[in-house]
Amino acid sequence: MSTGRTEEAAGSAETACVTGAGGYIASWLVKLLLSRGYTVHGTVRDLSDNKTAHLKRLENASENLKLFKADVLDYDAMAGAVAGCQGVFHVATPVPSGKITDPEREMLGPAVTGTINALKAASAANARRVVVVSSMVAVEINPKDWPRDKIKDENCWSDKEFCRNEENWYSVAKISSEEAALEYAKQTGLDVVTVNPAVVFGPLLQPTLNTSCQFLVYFLKGGPDRMRDKLWHIVDVRDTADALLLVYETPQASGRHICAPHFISARDLLELLKTMESIYDMEHPAPMTSDKLKKLGWKVRPLKETIAETVEFCQHAGFLEDVEGFRFPPLYNII
Ligand SMILES: NC(=O)c1ccc[n+]([C@@H]2O[C@H](COP(=O)([O-])OP(=O)(O)OC[C@H]3O[C@@H](n4cnc5c(N)ncnc54)[C@H](OP(=O)(O)O)[C@@H]3O)[C@@H](O)[C@H]2O)c1
Repeated sequence: MSTGRTEEAAGSAETACVTGAGGYIASWLVKLLLSRGYTVHGTVRDLSDNKTAHLKRLENASENLKLFKADVLDYDAMAGAVAGCQGVFHVATPVPSGKITDPEREMLGPAVTGTINALKAASAANARRVVVVSSMVAVEINPKDWPRDKIKDENCWSDKEFCRNEENWYSVAKISSEEAALEYAKQTGLDVVTVNPAVVFGPLLQPTLNTSCQFLVYFLKGGPDRMRDKLWHIVDVRDTADALLLVYETPQASGRHICAPHFISARDLLELLKTMESIYDMEHPAPMTSDKLKKLGWKVRPLKETIAETVEFCQHAGFLEDVEGFRFPPLYNII
């Protein structure tokens, strides 16, 4: 899959730090960076094999991947990992699969202070660009201020107060951390770009099921929890990694980048999963655009391929077997 990068950048001798390297999106990004000749400094909270073995097995990992133990709340540990890096990909943020009971400790602290720590570490290392992974939840939840029929683009910000009143802490955290990142860039001159992925599906590299894939597995299991028939925006995890590298390597990339190429209603997703034949409900107008990324050369897989490969992967990995007590992640009933 092309990232639109220039040939001169191939076999890069650059070093890049990826925070939360063992997570779902970050693992694919580490794999992509290693395949492109980057040296990668990956931060993880737990250096044990069950969190890092999949990273150590990646091609070129033995020579070019160095893992650092760092909680994003620990500035010194973060600075140690970012030292010597030209690029920083700040990916680490909790994506809770259960209900949040202490928003500050579980979500807002790690998201906002964690982002500022990553940016300060990047400034201290004189990094040339930082890519911050935000989310479409920082774009699309704007029921009052954005004209109903206007396609949402990078100018649209979610309504933080609305999310706070709804106790939608994940979204409050993603809005606040993206705002903080862009403000930090304005104040300090550090080159910061953000990427706002939709719900991410696709095969996993790590051994455990992350929250967004739990969402799909829940659909497949047809469990007891109710879910709203809303329109879901979806992106493939491999296309997300491509987008992150693309905005890092493209000098003219700036500001925010919506990374949400597909959309489908919950009802149609269910049908698609049953038949793997039907696709898009064409009655729905496109509510959000990823044109900014596409203009930089971003190419994406068809939605059907993403869904089919996620289902196939989950089947082979045993994620569809007995999942007693498996619940629909509450996050997806509030965003
Ligand atoms: N998946 C999606 O649908 C989606 C959509 C839009 C945006 N995103 C964003 O993409 C990023 C990665 O999400 P993901 O889906 O790949 O989830 P994930 O697999 O759960 O990854 C989250 C990563 O963050 C790390 N982390 C959490 N709290 C931390 C802390 N205090 N210090 C250091 N590391 C910490 C986790 O480390 P541990 O393994 O130690 O817990 C994990 O590596 C997040 O910023 C998320 O908001 C995800």
